[in-house]
Amino acid sequence: MTRNKISIIGAGHVGTTTAAWLAEREVGDIVLVDIPATGDMPKGKALDLTEAGPIWGYDTQITGTTNYEATAKSDIVIVTAGMPRKPGMSREDLVGTNARIVQSVVEQVVSRSPDTILLLVTNPLDSMVYLAKKVSGFPRERVLGQAGVLDSARMRAFIAMEMNVSVESVWAFVMGGHGDEMVPIPRYSTVGGIPITDLLPADRIEAIVQRTRGGGGEIVQLLKTGSAYYAPGAAVGKMVEAILKDKHMVLPASAYLEGEYGLNDICFGVPVVLGRRGIERILEISLTREEKEELQRSVELIRKTMSMLPL
Ligand code: APR
Repeated sequence: MTRNKISIIGAGHVGTTTAAWLAEREVGDIVLVDIPATGDMPKGKALDLTEAGPIWGYDTQITGTTNYEATAKSDIVIVTAGMPRKPGMSREDLVGTNARIVQSVVEQVVSRSPDTILLLVTNPLDSMVYLAKKVSGFPRERVLGQAGVLDSARMRAFIAMEMNVSVESVWAFVMGGHGDEMVPIPRYSTVGGIPITDLLPADRIEAIVQRTRGGGGEIVQLLKTGSAYYAPGAAVGKMVEAILKDKHMVLPASAYLEGEYGLNDICFGVPVVLGRRGIERILEISLTREEKEELQRSVELIRKTMSMLPL
């Protein structure tokens, strides 16, 4: 049986955390690419992860390299290359630097893997997915971004803490851009299938919504030197697993919209069905007037960032 080939561009915090998650679950063999100023960092990290295999019992092959040739014919390519933010920065502040990096990464990847699926993680996320879509020329099924799985996981964690229940009993629904204007939707967020709007007072729900919106910034403030990577790595791992195992899993993702939710020519967080072809379907739900207004604010923030892209 041929194994899946997963390339991860950017062997930093998010890239290697994702690699560890995927290696342990034997989702596919992994190629880690980075361009360190000195030393052979990707090779070192790959060897370190390989040496964890006997302990956890995985046979995943992990290669670390500075050479894109090793990524040829990847089934999926995860792009985490780029700068993380520091305290006081918004994700949007990263657009100039990270757009240059993502553009060059995508060019190098797609020439070697023309049939691959591109999964973007670099921020500002929705604009980077848009850039990757335009630079690759890929159909929209094969270009998507990780944001909603992370944002909804944060919301799930906060709901579980508030109610003192298992995180497994909690589901949360977050739409929109991966910025502080994201749109958590409490009436579709549930504990044991019951909407939290039936279980918690409005002020506690509002506090959970605000903490979810600022969830990334909360970690940046605590770390001081960079941004989150354990939960982002797990979120990417979940999406890759859904795609490569062809699970038809419904997850939120940043997707290129062609009329859905009344939006065109923008990448935006929506519920999608993920399978071996990438995005198999986009699910449309009806929204209240207030939710639509919140989505519109999120759209405006993304469009402003998109206007700074070198396209
Ligand atoms: N090609 C390959 N790798 C690159 C390139 C490039 N052109 N440019 C930068 N990198 C690498 C860096 O060398 C670094 O190892 O990307 C890696 C990024 O790792 P970290 O600095 O640890 O950042 P990380 O926390 O992983 O975040 C990466 O994901 O969540 C987002 O906002 C976050 O944009 C950031 C990205």
